[in-house]
Amino acid sequence: MIRRCLALLLTAGLGLAAAPRPAAAVEVTISCGALGQELELCRDGAQAWARESGHRVKIVSVPNSASERLALYQMMLAGAAPQIDIYQIDVVWPGILGHHFIDLRPYSHGAEARHFPAIIANNTVDGRLIAMPLYTDAGVLFYRRDLLEKHGRAVPATWEAMTETAAFIQQAERAAAAPGAQPLWGYVFQGRAYEGLTVNALEWVASSGGGTILDRDARITIDNPAARAALARAGGWIGGIAPEGVLTYTEEEARGLFQSGNAVFMRNWPYAWALAEGADSPVRGKVGIAPLPRESGDAPTGVLGGWNLGVSRYSRHPAEAAALVMYLTDAAEQKRRAVVAAYNPTLPALYQDPEVLAANPFFRTLLPTFSGAVARPSLAAGGRYNRVSNAFWTRVHDVLAGRQAADPALDGLAQDLRRIGRRGW
Ligand code: GLC
Repeated sequence: MIRRCLALLLTAGLGLAAAPRPAAAVEVTISCGALGQELELCRDGAQAWARESGHRVKIVSVPNSASERLALYQMMLAGAAPQIDIYQIDVVWPGILGHHFIDLRPYSHGAEARHFPAIIANNTVDGRLIAMPLYTDAGVLFYRRDLLEKHGRAVPATWEAMTETAAFIQQAERAAAAPGAQPLWGYVFQGRAYEGLTVNALEWVASSGGGTILDRDARITIDNPAARAALARAGGWIGGIAPEGVLTYTEEEARGLFQSGNAVFMRNWPYAWALAEGADSPVRGKVGIAPLPRESGDAPTGVLGGWNLGVSRYSRHPAEAAALVMYLTDAAEQKRRAVVAAYNPTLPALYQDPEVLAANPFFRTLLPTFSGAVARPSLAAGGRYNRVSNAFWTRVHDVLAGRQAADPALDGLAQDLRRIGRRGW
């Protein structure tokens, strides 16, 4: 089984150069994400550490879908597989996977004090620091500034305004398009049945005052009128302002369509900024970033995301692996990742850094979006978070695909959640 898992993990780079060799050079294997420019950044950072330390690094990449990645990690870790030393884990996984990772404090020399305290608290399980923060994330709205200007429209502040503006521009542009041109769509997002849909749907719900599925005390709150209305509205987008294909989209499919110039609005994470602004991007210079819309006054907008590096308890080289984790999560690497590829640092000091801000002006303007981002209910659900999320995204996907109306879907979800939590959380 573990052999099969490993075969599924794409081996992205083997035995990166190392010199000078320490007395006992070892090979450390790190599993990095591959969304956008992640893999390249990981390889460059790991290579720099290998050069400095004299150890060797092997990099394995994993599927882009966070849910597929979790399933692979769970198989590897349940089998106590020693093949991977460092795992890149999602901000919502410490409660699910934390017991498989070593406490990093003996290796951190207090570096955790320089990161956002909330992320360190999130990564501390039973008093053990099981992962160091690599980057943080919050959902944002990307828009085509040129198209809004051309049609005299403002950046939408509410979901209703977004829906209306998207439909208006989509229709006007299509009516004027050359025959055979790719159709322009109003809105693209992550609609596949996976963790990304949980994030999107929680954004629709929380920004409408409908809560966060479970509250902090794990009481089930999702079955409420604001949540029902938010889901019903999203169901109306499919085949209208959003292509039917959005039901299979993760982050990269949405970015592909937006970046090729075929969408007015996109919900995505900040990494899409550096690529939209890239030298070969058809939308370079035409894109703006704003907070996601909200329906009710001061409701929060984006959901909190982000990734962390943990060292497996089954690693044969925990000290060297921890050293690489500390290197990759330290200020120099976080700055490089922010400047080159718009990954949000987890070190508050870097939000004052002129080079970081020059590359990502929205780090300054969207600070409240980042600091006020909505947390998924992973702390309340603990080890059962993925079951909660899976129940949520399945019901939401049914609504988007027209298999179920929002009301019965949320009634059913509340029942699913009662079953998942019946022995307490
Ligand atoms: C991003 C976020 C992560 C989230 C995932 C969902 O990678 O950083 O927290 O779970 O998207 O697709």
